[in-house]
Amino acid sequence: MTIPSQAYKAPARWLHWSMALLVLLMIPVGFLMVREGLSRPLQNNLFIFHKNVGVLLLILITVRLLYRWRNPPPPEPTHLPDWQARIAGMTHAVLYALLLIMPLAGYIRVRAGGFPIESLDALGVPALVPRSDTLAEVAKTIHFYGGWTIAFLAALHVGAALHHGLIKKDGIFSRMWPGASQ
Ligand code: HEM
Ligand code: HEM
Repeated sequence: MTIPSQAYKAPARWLHWSMALLVLLMIPVGFLMVREGLSRPLQNNLFIFHKNVGVLLLILITVRLLYRWRNPPPPEPTHLPDWQARIAGMTHAVLYALLLIMPLAGYIRVRAGGFPIESLDALGVPALVPRSDTLAEVAKTIHFYGGWTIAFLAALHVGAALHHGLIKKDGIFSRMWPGASQ
């Protein structure tokens, strides 16, 4: 397997792909679990999955941002037109912001609303925000709009990545996934 000279380092790639997989599960589960007409047990299981995987994502994004701060990503390839590099950079920045905002808003929505988070409760981690219906409502609104925004941007991002990987074959995809076709 040849690793492109300007590839992301292995920890950055592991963090990207594990989070991408989980986020791409979290989004449809989030939209599905709030729909009316689901059976109660299915809805409960989806909520338990969503809340607890969401907390795991909060830990992963903290690690990822700290890692990125210490290990800057490879520079944008020079063959990319300026406007494309700018859009890619902005999309990545907003995705990072949402990867932090979404689990935080979800956590606050649930804890301020007085609901359990099973994994944290089992570990004896207390609620870190006070019980407040107003706070829960604000966090719920942020989580709702953030949910649509991250769904939209992730679709744009995946589309662009696949376009580079499958059609342009210009090596951008392999920066994140060495070994894939260039
Ligand atoms: C990257 C992480 C996350 C993503 C991408 C995500 C995404 C979503 C989406 C798309 C929805 C449906 C939109 C809506 O109706 O609000 C939703 C709903 C919800 N999420 Fe998340 N979520 C994340 C993390 C969390 C976490 C950590 C928690 C709690 C610990 C959480 C709790 C909830 C709850 C309770 C709802 C239902 C909202 C309501 O109507 O009360 N989420 N999430
Ligand atoms: C099939 C799904 C996905 C594919 C194929 C993919 C592909 C890629 C590729 C090729 C890059 C490197 C771009 C470059 O070199 O400039 C990248 C970076 C990135 N991806 Fe994804 N991605 C996927 C899913 C996601 C998801 C779901 C998220 C978050 C919601 C995400 C967030 C990011 C971020 C924040 C970066 C910037 C990394 C950095 O510069 O530190 N990706 N992705």
